[in-house]
Amino acid sequence: FESRLLDGLHLLITAGPTREAIDPVRYISNHSSGKMGFALAEAAAEAGARVTLVSGPVNLRTPDRVQRVDVVSALDMLTACEAALPADILIASAAVADYRPAHVSDSKLKKTDDNQQGMRLELVRNPDILATLAMHPNRRPGLCVGFAAETHDLLRYASDKLQRKNLDLIIANDVSQRDIGFNSDDNRVTLLSRQQAPQHLELASKASLARHIIRIIGEHIGRTA
Ligand code: C5P
Repeated sequence: FESRLLDGLHLLITAGPTREAIDPVRYISNHSSGKMGFALAEAAAEAGARVTLVSGPVNLRTPDRVQRVDVVSALDMLTACEAALPADILIASAAVADYRPAHVSDSKLKKTDDNQQGMRLELVRNPDILATLAMHPNRRPGLCVGFAAETHDLLRYASDKLQRKNLDLIIANDVSQRDIGFNSDDNRVTLLSRQQAPQHLELASKASLARHIIRIIGEHIGRTA
């Protein structure tokens, strides 16, 4: 693997899920394992980049030569990413919770007579970390890469996100397919960019796909090893 491809560049990457507290013992989250993000962080470090990996709660070993910052909520993740700027490349692979509880209770919520039948939880929108950083007026990373995980109309939604979030590249992931995606060691993705036709990458291990994606990112910033 081209060990000098990203030499001298700072790559910022988000990975894993976020957890949004309801009370001291409960939270809202999702099934993201963080595997694709950690594989990309490892491949980028192997390619010579200085890597900052901002990770939600996951059960994974930190790759060698990667600076890992652990966070819990989407708001923490945004703060940690802003603190890590400037970056030459941003890859947003985290499955950030779109909403968080409007109020976090200081004490454990109890079942009471008033909520015998059920209860309502009020949610507010979380910031879009990727869009926020990709729109940053003076500190936008040189190349911004997002993920689109969809169950239908994959390429249409992905190309819409590419435009709307001001990205250079988007990695589209069909999460309706059972053999790939969440917690799997393999993945199959399509890369969309602003200039080129969609590039379909065959089913492969996340480690091997990550190297392939890092190579394509290298080409996008004019590097070839
Ligand atoms: O809009 P959607 O959640 O499908 O967009 C997915 C892309 O945006 C991923 O790259 C994800 O990491 C990023 N994202 C983010 N912050 C959010 C929501 C999504 O960085 N609040």
